[in-house]
Amino acid sequence: MKALVYEKAHSLDNFAIKLIKVAEPILREHDVLVEVRAIGVNPGEAAIRSMRSAEPGGRVLLGWEFAGVVIGAGLAVQRFKIGDRVFGTGDMTRDGCWAERLAVDHRIIARIPDQISFCDAASLPIGAVTAWEAMFRDRDTLADGINRVLILGGAGAVGSLATQLLKAKTKAFVVSTGSRSDSKAWCSGMGADLVLDHAVDVVAQLAAADISYVDMVLSTAKSGGNIGWIAKVLRPFGHLSVVDVGPSPDVTPLILKSASLHTEMVFSRIIHGSAPHIQGGILETVAALVVEGRVRPIATTLLNGLMAGTMKAAHELVETGRTIGKVVIVI
Ligand SMILES: NC(=O)c1ccc[n+]([C@@H]2O[C@H](COP(=O)([O-])OP(=O)(O)OC[C@H]3O[C@@H](n4cnc5c(N)ncnc54)[C@H](OP(=O)(O)O)[C@@H]3O)[C@@H](O)[C@H]2O)c1
Repeated sequence: MKALVYEKAHSLDNFAIKLIKVAEPILREHDVLVEVRAIGVNPGEAAIRSMRSAEPGGRVLLGWEFAGVVIGAGLAVQRFKIGDRVFGTGDMTRDGCWAERLAVDHRIIARIPDQISFCDAASLPIGAVTAWEAMFRDRDTLADGINRVLILGGAGAVGSLATQLLKAKTKAFVVSTGSRSDSKAWCSGMGADLVLDHAVDVVAQLAAADISYVDMVLSTAKSGGNIGWIAKVLRPFGHLSVVDVGPSPDVTPLILKSASLHTEMVFSRIIHGSAPHIQGGILETVAALVVEGRVRPIATTLLNGLMAGTMKAAHELVETGRTIGKVVIVI
């Protein structure tokens, strides 16, 4: 099959991903074989491209957000049949979906209802599962006592799905942030009750809105450097949930508030074999919410074709750190 791969970690300026012929994916017993129809491209994947190299003689095949059609199944798979339309994430320790075909554990994917296009479906999985686990942890809603949530970076994929999931599944008051007029408008469109600007003093903006504290902060960017002021807006025993990876944060300001620090890695369940089927269930819920009109897919930029130039264009966009919604490549 054809796949977009590279050998050595590289910068965007030296973009080296190429479309070449590679061996077909090998199915494990819980896998389905999927013909890939659409790909969501993520800033985390661009970061991995700049850091991860192949073993000598090998190649790296990234991409863990897809929509497609089941064309084969491992021996332990009963949940799907050939021809089912499916969407999901993947396992960052295995080959990804920037290819014609993908082998993926069926427990972390879900069926796409007829009403949802491949493109829209591919815009959802990483943002939805990450936002869900970051806020709801291993439950299916917020913990008791979390009534007001501040989302830093409300127009990114995680922030967009976080806002929508909170409004669809909880009664929480949602404050989200953007720093430009179009990203702020997008935050409102996702359902935020109040939109602030993360480029200026958020504490002062909350105070001006008569909000003296929030119960949870979901931080999607520059989290380590912001902990000092984030701790100021959290109530004692509040929750900070962090999804971006950066320099190790100094958590002293959180300790002074007896606050909890939650981390999230969307691949942790599948890598550690810890009830991965729960993620398939999350995606089933998200698909149902989309059909009910309570969650909107977030594809904003559509690119066409499994081609190196298309993937480079996607990386150029996600590396700006200014993406609104999701960049999707339709195959
Ligand atoms: N842990 C996990 O499992 C996991 C999963 C998915 C993503 N991630 C990580 O989560 C982060 C968000 O990813 P994403 O795909 O949602 O979107 P993204 O492309 O990283 O987010 C773009 C958005 O970030 C906002 N932003 C830029 N600088 C900011 C700042 N200093 N404070 C707050 N917001 C800022 C921008 O808003 P403005 O343009 O308005 O400034 C833009 O709308 C990335 O670091 C990604 O790698 C982690």
